[in-house]
Amino acid sequence: MRKPIIAIDGPSGAGKGTVARAVAHELGYHHVDSGAMYRAVGWKAVHDGVPLDDEEAVATLAGRSRIEVTATSVTIDEADVTRAIRTPEIDRAAAAVARLPKVRDVLVEGQRRLGAGGAIVMEGRDIGTVVFPRADVKIYLDASPEERARRRATDPAHSGGPAAIADVASALTARDEIDRTRQASPLYAAQDAVVIDTTGKSVTEVVEEAMQVIDEKLKGKRIWQEGSSRPRGRVD
Ligand code: DC
Repeated sequence: MRKPIIAIDGPSGAGKGTVARAVAHELGYHHVDSGAMYRAVGWKAVHDGVPLDDEEAVATLAGRSRIEVTATSVTIDEADVTRAIRTPEIDRAAAAVARLPKVRDVLVEGQRRLGAGGAIVMEGRDIGTVVFPRADVKIYLDASPEERARRRATDPAHSGGPAAIADVASALTARDEIDRTRQASPLYAAQDAVVIDTTGKSVTEVVEEAMQVIDEKLKGKRIWQEGSSRPRGRVD
């Protein structure tokens, strides 16, 4: 029996990480943060002195590196970069390498391998549009630019130190612009995605809303759910 794939996309600070983690926990699925893979490649390119606009060199580096993203850590080759990838410098480096089609090809292939067995919640920018265009559920999270900047500025996972919201807001807007307008897999909501605006909503509210969407979408599909004695949805 098939195990579902749930895609959660949206811009930075829309709440993808928190929501994807909570939803995966509720369903007993794996959670994969695909952005961490772009960050790890950006980090390694900076670390190894590879120019961020050298597509061939960065793609070769991505293809050669062993990237592991777990619930609690991110490693690239032997380096634990869990915290090092959450800095303003790596925000920029990740956005730069994510523009390069050959780098995306390498990472998308890895993401598809990770999701091949299903029972996965993958978050990113192009999961519902490119990585898994046939995902069972596609959710696109959004929020106002002000709220996204505020969340990012107060996110303890981002270790750039206390940041002025205005600075975070302008950096975030610049990165959003790159993500939305790049040629390769720009950020947009898949036509069959359910858009949830998280502005002014609590995490609990958004997770509940997402779970409702998931239940609704999985209803009637012949799929398997871990932890339940019977498949979720109709079996005929
Ligand atoms: O979600 P994040 O901020 O950690 O992502 C880091 C960068 O990688 C960001 O510029 C968007 C990009 N990204 C992407 O292009 N495609 C994905 N599936 C995930 C992230």
